[in-house]
Amino acid sequence: MIIQPRTRGFICLTSHPEGCAENVKTQIEYVKSKGQIVNGPKKVLVIGASTGFGLASRISAAFGSNAATIGVFFEKPGTEGRPGTAGWYNSAAFEEQAKQAGIYAKSINGDAFSDEIKKETIELIKKDLGQVDLVVYSLASPRRTHPKTGVAYASVLKPIGEPFTNKTVDFHTGVVSNISIDPVKEQSDIDNTIAVMGGEDWKFWIEDLKAAGVLANGAKTVAYSYIGPELTYPIYRNGTIGMAKNDLEATVPVINDLLKDLNGVSYVSVNKALVTQSSSAIPVVPLYISLLYKVMKEKNIHEGCIEQMQRLFADRLYGGSLALDTEGRIRVDDWEMREDVQSAVAKLWEEVTSENIEAISDLAGYRKDFFNLFGFEFDSIDYTLESDELTTVASLK
Ligand code: NAD
Ligand code: NA
Repeated sequence: MIIQPRTRGFICLTSHPEGCAENVKTQIEYVKSKGQIVNGPKKVLVIGASTGFGLASRISAAFGSNAATIGVFFEKPGTEGRPGTAGWYNSAAFEEQAKQAGIYAKSINGDAFSDEIKKETIELIKKDLGQVDLVVYSLASPRRTHPKTGVAYASVLKPIGEPFTNKTVDFHTGVVSNISIDPVKEQSDIDNTIAVMGGEDWKFWIEDLKAAGVLANGAKTVAYSYIGPELTYPIYRNGTIGMAKNDLEATVPVINDLLKDLNGVSYVSVNKALVTQSSSAIPVVPLYISLLYKVMKEKNIHEGCIEQMQRLFADRLYGGSLALDTEGRIRVDDWEMREDVQSAVAKLWEEVTSENIEAISDLAGYRKDFFNLFGFEFDSIDYTLESDELTTVASLK
């Protein structure tokens, strides 16, 4: 099959197996180039392991610390005439690379919010690893079926209180326009978003893992959050998703209590704004990221998911200093939030229009990152050739 990108808005409907493998390989090489993490994790469970920050966490643990990893995700393999999802191909490529390097890696594909997948994961840990010493929680999902009540929740991305009007960009065309987003009408929109993206499922995971005795003494767990600049507060940090992040962050002390008798500890790491399948769905944010990339690349402090997660592991969780903020959070968004970076972005934000966007932003970098997520636009790949999809699919099972 010859596979080309097919997009609908911020969604790409196709993925390229060899391109996804290239993406994974590049991340592995980066981690190896940084050297081994001294006293890093050894047996790691990554929930949300197939794309974005979760995949980068898995690669950092495996190739930066020789860690055995179990990855949980929700992806689709390819079928006759239809490519699978990027996360499927990423995971297949990751497993192949891990196997070649003699590093244990197995994956579980299914709904991480369910009791069944938690049970299946625990069985696999018991059988193969005994216990895990790190649990990374990196789910991003628009919906969650509650495992105890069966209620299906859908998250919304809306401001709270007042309508929010600001600039946004269609990153395919570069057209900058004003967007107005109405605030939530009902409290249930906020509650549903918290139910999907808040901390309850993270807590359920840790409760179940602990009850099954599969958490090692001194186990750590980390989940990911975002804050960002004031200009996105109405749609992000003070909006429905921000309320879910508040809830996630408030789960840290609850999980710390659970882990106390194991001498374990939990953290939230606030990460940098990056192009992922999840972030491209948020209005206004892609324009901010395009300007942020421009500024951070000029200052030589740009990072992608893999640079962020390698730094989180090497310089925060397993070395250097946690450098917690006043709320007790790890901040690898420290360079994004630097005063000089933020004031430069704020200035460009005022200036940016459809006419000057290619010149004053890194929209080109945004687009390339977006297509790279699905295995497209890698120079090393000839996209006119047939894709050897079936071998890649076979290697995950
Ligand atoms: P992503 O979309 O790349 O990854 C989401 C992962 O969750 C994938 O592995 C997917 O398979 C998995 N997943 C989704 N629903 C699932 C389900 N029901 N069962 C099992 N797996 C499921 O997203 P990302 O951007 O890497 O986000 C990960 C975390 O990082 C989120 O908490 C997000 O808020 C946070 N974060 C993102 C950014 C950013 O700019 N992208 C910045 C800071 C923090
Ligand atoms: Na992820």
